Amino acid sequence: MSDFKFLRGPKDWWRQAVVYQIYPRSFSDSNGDGIGDLKGIISKADYLKTLGVNAVWLSPFYPSALADGGYDVDDYRDVDPRIGSLEEFDVMVQELHSREIRVFVDIVPNHCSDRHVWFQEALAAGRGSKERDRFIFRDGRGENSELPPSDLSSHFGPHGWTRVEDGQWYMHLFTKEQPDFNWDNPEVHEEFLKTLKFWSDRGVDGFRIDVAHALKKQLDPLPNRSSYSLEVMKDDGTDPLFDRDDVHEIYAEWRNLFNQYDPPRVAVAEAWVHPHRRAPYASEKGLGQAFNFDLLAAAFDADAYHDIIESNLEFSASTGSSSTWVLSNHDVIRHATRMVIPGYGESADGFGSENKWYVEHRMDNDLDLELGLARAQAATLLILALPGSTYLYQGEELGLPDVTDIPSDQMQDPQWFRGEGKLKSRDGCRVPLPWEPTGTSFGFGPGGSHLPQPSWYAKYAASVQDADPNSTLNLYREALALRAKLITEEQLSWQESASGTLLFERPNGWLCFTNFTQHEVELPQGDLLLHSGVVSGGKLSGPATAWLKR
Ligand code: NOJ
Ligand code: CA
Repeated sequence: MSDFKFLRGPKDWWRQAVVYQIYPRSFSDSNGDGIGDLKGIISKADYLKTLGVNAVWLSPFYPSALADGGYDVDDYRDVDPRIGSLEEFDVMVQELHSREIRVFVDIVPNHCSDRHVWFQEALAAGRGSKERDRFIFRDGRGENSELPPSDLSSHFGPHGWTRVEDGQWYMHLFTKEQPDFNWDNPEVHEEFLKTLKFWSDRGVDGFRIDVAHALKKQLDPLPNRSSYSLEVMKDDGTDPLFDRDDVHEIYAEWRNLFNQYDPPRVAVAEAWVHPHRRAPYASEKGLGQAFNFDLLAAAFDADAYHDIIESNLEFSASTGSSSTWVLSNHDVIRHATRMVIPGYGESADGFGSENKWYVEHRMDNDLDLELGLARAQAATLLILALPGSTYLYQGEELGLPDVTDIPSDQMQDPQWFRGEGKLKSRDGCRVPLPWEPTGTSFGFGPGGSHLPQPSWYAKYAASVQDADPNSTLNLYREALALRAKLITEEQLSWQESASGTLLFERPNGWLCFTNFTQHEVELPQGDLLLHSGVVSGGKLSGPATAWLKR
């Protein structure tokens, strides 16, 4: 295990960290099989260092049949041989730690894969067995159990129950290849503690917890549900499927383990809950931090941003946690595209798979991507100036748009297949990165790419942007380097500014000014440190953000 001095640094390093999400299969491929791998990540360690991130979070790299992009885990304590090995994982941690970059891994505790040894044992052992009790098996309705035990759909389409050979059914909130665990069974608790210890002992610094709000369920009577929108989720801790008060007993156990390490391991909850219910996930007795996805769903609008920032800072102050800011991840349309899709920001549930606006505009080639990029850069510089931590998604530092024209027969996302055309595919943000303007996969690797890359990728390539002082990549680098110097107490004060703009000041006089409009506006007083867009004659173009120092 690596023992670098910086790891002994302040225990609250995570509070204002910049964490870069790597989707391993699509980051960098070392051997040309078209699938990104750990050696590929190792080869980009200097790139990550130069970018200036404090940590990386790896989406699942475990053995998996990829029914849901790796969120169907066969074995929580191993590496998919297509991605690497445990030895390579150790080398990767070492290489990143030697560059003062910490490592988060993704933990998927609500469900495993139907190839997981426990599920295979459950199938073999039969009804009533202790092996089946690790999952949620029930008899069906109807004379011969031929109807599902309840009317439950899954996130990705019609059925939330699947029947096995002996006639019983098992519950799955996601695909049928992702059986839900029974968290009332102590063995499940022990198993995950073992997994968290396994990675912590290998030097992993933090964990991202998948669907952290779903683990505990009230199954008597069995729940019916046809929609997963927040509107139908109860917001008082008694919903049968989500965000139950007793889920926090699990995270108290985990916290106990995390605190046995020096420095304590950290965690961030992915919990799509009512905003006022986020607090316990982010408390220091629990996981410590929770994603705030409010900006993912919001329109690019000064008032909307103001209100979201305000409420989240209040919320984090009340829990003792720090805010998290996210504009893109592997589940949503990249923000450089999303921000110009008509109708975006109008629904309360921007992530929700039933994004009508996305389905309608998925193949839309007339989107104003120049405006999209200007908005994306402005929004990114804004969140990087806020108190709290920022989560970046691979490729956003290149200003990458979503790939909107993947042919249906090359899509991989189960949400697409199971959604009967009504749900969006998430493949558009998962296309392997362009590192070079030429080559069989734009420098992703020496071979091809597991999802098709568009020809326009060439101009977004990292090497092209590296050489261009005005590129998005260099803007991110400059912003992260400046941020590291400017970082200060987790507070801000709003300052008066024209309509359609936002201006706030951090305690050390660091000013962040965002012009949400499409016309130029007067810059506030102060020394200009950095900006997106164009500055001329004391005015900032729009949309754009400028950082200044008083
Ligand atoms: C959330 C993950 O981010 C998403 O990619 C996955 O499909 C679901 N959880 C199920 O694990
Ligand atoms: Ca590979």
